[in-house]
Amino acid sequence: MLITGGAGFIGSNFIFYIHRKHPDYNLLCLDKLTYAGNLATLDSMINNKKFKFIRADIANRTAVYEIFKTEKPDVIVNFAAESHVDRSIENPAVFLETNVMGTQVLLDACRKYGIQRYHQVSTDEVYGDLPLDRPDLFFTEKTPLHTSSPYSASKASADLLCNAYQRTYGLPITISRCSNNYGPYQFPEKLIPLMIANALADQPLPVYGEGLNVRDWLYVEDHCAAIDLILERGKEGEVYNIGGHNEMRNIDIVKLICKALGKPESLITYVADRKGHDMRYAIDPAFIHQELGWLPVTKFEDGIQRTIQWYLDNRNWWETIINGEYQKYYERMYGNR
Ligand code: NAD
Ligand code: TYD
Repeated sequence: MLITGGAGFIGSNFIFYIHRKHPDYNLLCLDKLTYAGNLATLDSMINNKKFKFIRADIANRTAVYEIFKTEKPDVIVNFAAESHVDRSIENPAVFLETNVMGTQVLLDACRKYGIQRYHQVSTDEVYGDLPLDRPDLFFTEKTPLHTSSPYSASKASADLLCNAYQRTYGLPITISRCSNNYGPYQFPEKLIPLMIANALADQPLPVYGEGLNVRDWLYVEDHCAAIDLILERGKEGEVYNIGGHNEMRNIDIVKLICKALGKPESLITYVADRKGHDMRYAIDPAFIHQELGWLPVTKFEDGIQRTIQWYLDNRNWWETIINGEYQKYYERMYGNR
């Protein structure tokens, strides 16, 4: 199984999950190790005989073809992506290079060398957003794509390419669209780890706008389990929405983190809103439940405590990150906000 982007947040959790669940699988991780990729995350796998790591860019056709030729993967799960909305607003180009062109290179490699399954890890952000005053509305697999940010536009483009390669060339493709993930090893630029890190340092907690935007949070392991199930029993050409009906307002998450860490809410600082900020994401997971029997197992109360504890126990992992290049990003993104 070839796992691209496996040195990032969800990809690394997926590698751990799959290795636990299917210890007989040979896993190959391909990752460019951008700012978001961290080989230290995969420390526990590096010397494992069932695991191999190759540093490469999914948009590098020559490198990808060589890997397919020599490694002959049966299954590919594509996590590799530029994944942060704020960075996509600052510089869209790399999002198109990796998320769109990179996906195309992987799909072409599958056509050229053959594959049993190509799975595209997508996001609920391809559906755009929902209004706050219509709690009855949810994203289903039939909801039209309606993107807001360069990030979501690039992910939607990749999904459309996958559909096109499935229909035109008969490639065995599945797509999953998941809601916001949280858990261990998430890069500290994203809401939950950023607030944990700042709160621990008694730094301001920058909430965009009024903090009323709603996200549908899922513990990362539940996402991994859903992908594993899709690989085993999902139908080629199908899209599966993944989410656990766990909608939360940003401000409530930030307050919960303050409480859990014993920090005052006075650290909360309202800052200029994100441009084009999506109001609400909410997945209807009925299809994957009915078709594959998937249901999330981690309650948010447990998952968030486990996550906060993980960041407390693994300070070294994220402090190394925030003390490096990341400082420049933070200054650019939050300095004059
Ligand atoms: P991440 O930013 O933590 O990790 C991305 C990984 O991809 C990193 O290891 C990075 O080095 C690697 N990468 C980037 N460009 C590459 C390239 N050109 N070639 C090879 N590797 C490259 O992202 P994440 O949060 O783990 O997200 C993984 C996937 O899941 C993405 O496709 C994202 O769109 C999707 N997704 C994320 C969420 C979420 O809440 N984080 C929700 C739904 C879907
Ligand atoms: P994020 O973790 O970037 O995920 P996404 O934008 O893909 O949903 O952000 C989650 C929500 O938190 C989003 O509504 C933006 C908001 N947010 C803040 O209020 N402050 C911050 O510093 C960050 C990073 C996000």
